[in-house]
Amino acid sequence: MPNAAAPAPEGSDRSVPLHVAIIMDGNGRWAAARGLPRAEGHRRGVEALRRVVRAAHELGVLYLTIFSFSSENWSRPATEIGDLFGLLRRFIRNDLATLHSDGVRVRVIGEREGLEPDICTLLNEAEELTRANTKLNLVVAFNYGSRQEIAGAAQRLAREVAEGKRDPASIDADALGQYLDAPEIPDPDLIIRTSGEQRLSNFLMWQAAYSELVFVPIHWPDFDKAALESAIAEYARRERRFGGLAAKTGS
Ligand code: FPP
Repeated sequence: MPNAAAPAPEGSDRSVPLHVAIIMDGNGRWAAARGLPRAEGHRRGVEALRRVVRAAHELGVLYLTIFSFSSENWSRPATEIGDLFGLLRRFIRNDLATLHSDGVRVRVIGEREGLEPDICTLLNEAEELTRANTKLNLVVAFNYGSRQEIAGAAQRLAREVAEGKRDPASIDADALGQYLDAPEIPDPDLIIRTSGEQRLSNFLMWQAAYSELVFVPIHWPDFDKAALESAIAEYARRERRFGGLAAKTGS
């Protein structure tokens, strides 16, 4: 169950997070520092994404969630929005076959309404083609916002109550969690944000209740396997208590 912040099962390697989620920040600053257009930063961001998908699998991560377009990114200039949508189209068209043959299952979370029909078709195709893959789950958060996701879940529960199908007393954290975008995906163990900013920016706020947060100073286009390993090493040094007591000292 995704919202139960259950510790890793006994005997599993707790030093490697099952689920890593990444806020891929800093493409624009990476480009500006080099006198390049922001679009070039995003393009290099997709290259970093390819590296990191491979690295995550090699390191034993089973779920990788990436924040590719937030509900709030609509406030950017239309040209930049067009660039980001173009990159998503190209990423799926060019990389889907490789992802599939590498055993990657693609999942998409976020609001589909309001997206152009061809984007919806591509997202559906990616999910359908890779449905049976099990090596790595790549969860693409696209047109995603955590507040919107939680509000949507609340709306569905309210509708069930209004239709007489649900007792309001049955609404607890587990019930709400079941109406989030991907309830079967475990909560992220580790959330990484690049570029030095230290906030969640409306990303997986429900699911992050017990996630370890690691903020790295480098911009996303420079992120690579070594940077992922280093973030995972930092994660492995943390003591996760999930609201309980320390395992050894009991304090
Ligand atoms: C943040 O950098 C990054 C984004 C808003 C988009 C992330 C997108 C990619 C890495 C490429 C597209 C991904 C796919 C799957 C097609 P920023 O623009 O906010 O950088 P800044 O804070 O330095 O301006």
